Amino acid sequence: MVDSLGGSDGPAAVRTYNPWFMRAMLDLNDPSRLRTPVAGPRFARWLDDIRDDVPVPSSPEAGAADPSSVIPFGWGVPAPDLYPRDALERAYRSVMQCDWARALEYSDSEGTRALRTTVAARAARRGIQVDVDQVVITSGSLQGLDLVGRTLLDDGDTIAVEAPTFMGALGVWRPYRPRFLQIPLDGASGMDLDVLEAALRSGARPKLVYALPSFQNPTGALMPEAKRARLLRLAREYDFCIVEDDPYGELYYDAVTPLPVRALPGADEHVIYLGSFSKILAPGLRLGYAIASRRVAHRFTLTKKGMDFHTDGVTQLAAVRLIEDPELDFERYVASLRRAYAERRDALLDALARQIGSPARWTRPEGGFFVWLELGEPIDGPRLARAGPRHGVSLLAGQEFFPGGQAGRDAVRLSFSCPRADQMAEGVARIRAAIEDARA
Ligand SMILES: Cc1ncc(COP(=O)(O)O)c(C=O)c1O
Repeated sequence: MVDSLGGSDGPAAVRTYNPWFMRAMLDLNDPSRLRTPVAGPRFARWLDDIRDDVPVPSSPEAGAADPSSVIPFGWGVPAPDLYPRDALERAYRSVMQCDWARALEYSDSEGTRALRTTVAARAARRGIQVDVDQVVITSGSLQGLDLVGRTLLDDGDTIAVEAPTFMGALGVWRPYRPRFLQIPLDGASGMDLDVLEAALRSGARPKLVYALPSFQNPTGALMPEAKRARLLRLAREYDFCIVEDDPYGELYYDAVTPLPVRALPGADEHVIYLGSFSKILAPGLRLGYAIASRRVAHRFTLTKKGMDFHTDGVTQLAAVRLIEDPELDFERYVASLRRAYAERRDALLDALARQIGSPARWTRPEGGFFVWLELGEPIDGPRLARAGPRHGVSLLAGQEFFPGGQAGRDAVRLSFSCPRADQMAEGVARIRAAIEDARA
């Protein structure tokens, strides 16, 4: 075999068949055959802080002999049996029949005007009076958190977070290399503002304070109205921005949720509000929104252009149709969710009271999806979370909800949204068996 190499501007190099050369060429096409390992791309620096040796379970049910028989207290997701499936089907069908061209085109990065108008009108019901220009539709509120990170964070900026807090936010912000200032919770009333204020007085200057005032993930804590006003006063005095993450605010089971911080006077430049359709519709739709000052909303729109350009247009228009569907009656449907989840919460609290004794204690959420169970003895939460699936139950280790994972070792988060009320007693019996196992 003769292989001629070279261009038209030089003498052609002639290489005769060379088995070594052919082997080298084959190896280049198949790096796994190279003796010297290929280095591959160098990972971004922020990944240096991530420990690769901590196995990330693919799901809280991992390790169960039969995952389908596990009673699921793991993920904080709405119950599939409560999705408005027929109404969703009607809404998508109607978009594809009547509005398909608009739905399938590229569209505005800030979201379709129809959905932004609907979101602004629903926000007004909760006291948030904003113009449609202040609403940006996001691909889930996780993307809202990412917009906050990309738009506002520089290397080394400080974010004050509740400890424990929603672990997803920590994961989204890590690439921006912030410092997390952990502020403990004050019992069931959310972030301890005395601790926050003391930190501010002694010189801490967070750029952002990430707060979940309504049915906090993972504890279910609810910040009372007076405390919300105090948090806003601190934001104005120390010039930080509150990121108010509120996917559970409409899911109250006792008294109506207090007004969001974003609804209080003076919030405009100091509160970015993040909402989501994941918990009241379905998480797979990936539909959320950010509400902010005009200045910030405009920036978010420019930033989003460089991310995914816009959120799925079909889903945005389907959501509008669904919310306007007289056959569903959206507000009645949300009220029916409140009744269904209240029943599940009550059944879980009842089962815990009957079956789990001292020294364990747990929160009694007035809304949302979560009970935080502190075992009160040195049982390792991660060990318990691993033992759960062996006993037919899933849960999440408390450690996951603290930046750095140093605290929360004796706690677990139980999400009561998915198990049916009639499964709670059996679910807690399995949790008790898993505790025994983890203790051994
Ligand atoms: C507090 C909080 N924020 C944001 C999210 C993410 O929601 P989405 O599905 O809208 O991205 C969740 C989901 O569990 C959550 O609990």
